[in-house]
Amino acid sequence: MPANMLLWTCDRMGDIAGNQASFYSNAEDYWREVSPTVDGMLGGYGSISSIDINGSKAFLQKFLGVRGSQNNDGEEKTGSGVALDCGAGIGRITKRLLLPLFRTVDLVDVTQEFLDKAKAYLEEEGGRVGNYFCRGLQDFVPESGRYDVIWIQWVIGHLTDDHLVEFLRRCQKGLRPNGLIVIKDNVSYEGVVPDEVDSSVCRDLKIVHSLVDRAGLRIVHEEQQMNFPKEIYQVHTLALR
Ligand SMILES: C[S@@+](CC[C@H](N)C(=O)[O-])C[C@H]1O[C@@H](n2cnc3c(N)ncnc32)[C@H](O)[C@@H]1O
Repeated sequence: MPANMLLWTCDRMGDIAGNQASFYSNAEDYWREVSPTVDGMLGGYGSISSIDINGSKAFLQKFLGVRGSQNNDGEEKTGSGVALDCGAGIGRITKRLLLPLFRTVDLVDVTQEFLDKAKAYLEEEGGRVGNYFCRGLQDFVPESGRYDVIWIQWVIGHLTDDHLVEFLRRCQKGLRPNGLIVIKDNVSYEGVVPDEVDSSVCRDLKIVHSLVDRAGLRIVHEEQQMNFPKEIYQVHTLALR
């Protein structure tokens, strides 16, 4: 990428921080018009949902285990009590990844219509949902020490850098012992790429790493999701604590 392009992308993030109110309200307006379906959650790529969920399951299972057991590095395994699905939408991830692995799942999303839909979409297993929180992640405070896993997928681009860092810090406080924060999201080739349509940004991996670092978190594992269509952004999954 030419140097002037990098400058432009950096300026854009500055612009966004300066117009924070419209950055958030435009995103809310966008999502309110999106159909409450798996296809809607994935911008028309509903067909990749199974590949995504299977990749996430394999990723997460490296950390989960019987309480008291240890992984290869001698670290205790993550519990399977309570998970939090951040930017949960209609509960696509809750339904196929989190409810099968955790006793209780909480959902948080800024779009009330999606949470309303989730109640039907999750069917009987939805009875194990603890809370439906309708809140922007920039304002949401996870309950201290409640969660074994906090799953944050395809939503960090809706937060400004500072809000993402502060949110990650609050998430760390929300973890149980041996708990894990997972970010799974698009990464750009270089710099910050704005999306005017849904009012979000896509950051490169170096920038995501620096924000994780600013939040005081350590990357314990990272993978690229394989077998996604060539034309979409690369997707990386990061386990943090
Ligand atoms: C691309 S969808 C992903 C949904 C879900 N994570 C999945 O993978 O199926 C993005 C979701 O983020 C939600 N969202 C957008 N901005 C948000 C914010 N500031 N705080 C919380 N949720 C937000 C939208 O309502 C939408 O449900």
